[in-house]
Amino acid sequence: MNICLNDKIFRIISDVVTAEGVAAYVTGGWVRDCLLKRDHPGKDIDIVVIGSGIDIAEKTAYRIDPGINVSVFKNFGTAMFRWKEYEIEFVGARKESYDRGSRKPVVEDGTLEDDQKRRDFTINAMAVSLGKDSFGRFLDPFNGTEDLKNKIIRTPLEPGMTFSDDPLRMLRAVRFATQLGFSIDETTFLSISENAGRMRIVSQERIIAEINKIMMCEKPSEGFILLERSGLLGIIFPELDNLKGIEKKGGKAHKDNFLHSLEVLDNISQRTDNLWLRWAALLHDIAKPLTKKYTPGTGWSFHGHEFKGSKMIPDIFRKLKLPLNENMKYVQKLVDLHLRPIALSQEEITDSAIRRLLFEAGDDIDDLMLLCEADITSKNEKRKNQHLENFGVVRQKLREIEEKDALRNFQPPVDGEEIIRTFGIRPGKEVGIIKNAIREAILDGIIPNEHDAARNLMIEKGKELGLSPAEPVI
Ligand code: CTP
Repeated sequence: MNICLNDKIFRIISDVVTAEGVAAYVTGGWVRDCLLKRDHPGKDIDIVVIGSGIDIAEKTAYRIDPGINVSVFKNFGTAMFRWKEYEIEFVGARKESYDRGSRKPVVEDGTLEDDQKRRDFTINAMAVSLGKDSFGRFLDPFNGTEDLKNKIIRTPLEPGMTFSDDPLRMLRAVRFATQLGFSIDETTFLSISENAGRMRIVSQERIIAEINKIMMCEKPSEGFILLERSGLLGIIFPELDNLKGIEKKGGKAHKDNFLHSLEVLDNISQRTDNLWLRWAALLHDIAKPLTKKYTPGTGWSFHGHEFKGSKMIPDIFRKLKLPLNENMKYVQKLVDLHLRPIALSQEEITDSAIRRLLFEAGDDIDDLMLLCEADITSKNEKRKNQHLENFGVVRQKLREIEEKDALRNFQPPVDGEEIIRTFGIRPGKEVGIIKNAIREAILDGIIPNEHDAARNLMIEKGKELGLSPAEPVI
């Protein structure tokens, strides 16, 4: 198994542990991804030491460069440092048994196999020896290689035990299955369904990190389908779970909005690595259950779901512990605007409607158009092509208007300062009225987006408000 140990760092660790007379192994994601010939994202290396992980971490770091800073987590018996592109974590092998009465784990030093047993999945529990005499020896007591070959996620122990050690592992099972294109072993999956409720004791920060990893997969829908089937979704993301199902009345059924949202998410994921655009896709119809209405004769409607949805975003972001910053505002904006290009494409497109869309979407207009195109999930090829064609026309119009009017990041050609100076007034409601009138006139195409035209309108509007210029008008 020496192929996994080509990097120089393993020789250095080998020298240190041999000199110290302790055994150490590389394990976890490094070994798994090496066997999968997958580029390990971030180059994390997990080292398990049969002895003190902290001691070996400190000695290895010192050997490389006495200036390296080692972070020690005494309570967990772990230590880590960064070197070059690596993040190397050392842990002492532990044996964990549960005192059933107190549910507090009793942790003692253990053997390599004790440590492997305590890991999440067989494919993450393989180890390669770093000792000089056994360098490269492969230890795989739970047959992780076989599971890698068959593309199976399976716990080393009875799954209930593994999951009670850390319930987040249920979500990790779904994440690894989605990331690697694996299936979850039947018994392991059954146990997730039985223990889903235990996710409630896991911190939201750890949960959202896994959800975001699912979001960044090639086909994130696979993860969300597994979450739904296992019952995890209702616990970690009830608003999304709420979207599922079809209702039929008077012979009319609406589509399953959960499956539709996932399809839009997959569509957008083929086009972008932007996590927040992916979130916007997942959440674009989130308010459909709240706005759903059946009208006899007309059928189902979801009036205002885009507006209501955008209002729901801050609450969802807060609960999920997603950032409440400009990324949230971006998602809100896209959810709010996601029907606008469709509405535009279905009517005679006026320049003024295009200008307003450009003004509101600003720099996010291209992302909005991507989202709208991803939102076409009709199975009817003819209808689908018609929509795409219509969007082509909207895109063309957007280009023309942008070239002409430069509205993408609208800056008023006459600002509040100039209005105050010209009329010699104090900041107040008149300034707002005049600024508004200028913006509306530009968006309606009554005046061009230029200073002189805007200044003339300012004077005119000022007169209507009983204001006269305090300085000569040039
Ligand atoms: N691990 C575990 N239980 C957890 C988290 C981690 O048993 N809840 C073990 C697994 O052996 C895992 C290793 O710790 O392989 C490292 O964890 P982590 O860095 O989170 O995952 P990787 O397997 O390295 O994969 P990735 O970097 O893709 O997250």
